[in-house]
Amino acid sequence: MSLTHELGTLAQEIAKEAGELALRRRAEGVAVAGTKSALADIVTEADQEVEQLIRDRLAAERPDDGFLGEESGAERGTSDITWVVDPIDGTVNYAYGIPSYAVSIAAVAGEPDPQRWQALAGAVFNPASGELFHATRDGGAWLHDARLTVNAEPSAAGALVATGFGYRPETHAGDLARLSRVMPIARDIRRIGAASLDLAFVAAGRLDAYFERGLAPWDHAAGGLLVTEAGGRLGGLPADQHGRVLIVAAAPGLFEKILALATD
Ligand code: IPD
Ligand code: CA
Ligand code: CA
Repeated sequence: MSLTHELGTLAQEIAKEAGELALRRRAEGVAVAGTKSALADIVTEADQEVEQLIRDRLAAERPDDGFLGEESGAERGTSDITWVVDPIDGTVNYAYGIPSYAVSIAAVAGEPDPQRWQALAGAVFNPASGELFHATRDGGAWLHDARLTVNAEPSAAGALVATGFGYRPETHAGDLARLSRVMPIARDIRRIGAASLDLAFVAAGRLDAYFERGLAPWDHAAGGLLVTEAGGRLGGLPADQHGRVLIVAAAPGLFEKILALATD
């Protein structure tokens, strides 16, 4: 088995196990453990517990690799590989009982910095729907065993475009202005509430494009690989005055248009 295949299989296995834990905890009732950057940015006890499970499983299977997780921080490894983990992406959906949240796990090579890393494998698992999206570098993007490709051309009615808004109130005006510039080429807008699923849906052709300012590395590490392996383009712009990078994902024909319109 090749290294990427091995990493991909492990990412899938752990994402499923972690997702099942999240689902169980959800059924038992969710307790909010605290707020992070802003009042709207909550963390549940499940986020922390699920990340710990992922971290423990990775440490047991791949003790030399590094780790970069939303809830428990970063640790450099001695191998060239780092696991980039969002234990529950879509925490607000999770807390409200909206079944759009996912465990996102990626293995990247090189510096654990999205501008420089090379994503090798990724898995995005939504335990509420049972859908497991996965990809390996040069091995394609998949939903279970069905190969994914991005939409070639949006329909004449316009593109179905997803976006998201950061948790910080001072950035909302800019986010809304960006959205209103994209609106003329959109047939409709979606705000799903989980960046990893937005990206997986672009890969699956369920969305034509997605853009958002303010994503963290763990939000897009696995989903980004899904998009590129499904034939889409992933890119964006450097940080703005609030320190927020712009991520754009779309089919090649649409990418430049969205990027131009989303540029401040
Ligand atoms: C958030 C979700 C949301 C996006 C935010 C992310 P979290 O992640 O992906 O869709 O708009 O920017 O922070 O906090 O639910 O893991
Ligand atoms: Ca997230
Ligand atoms: Ca999260």
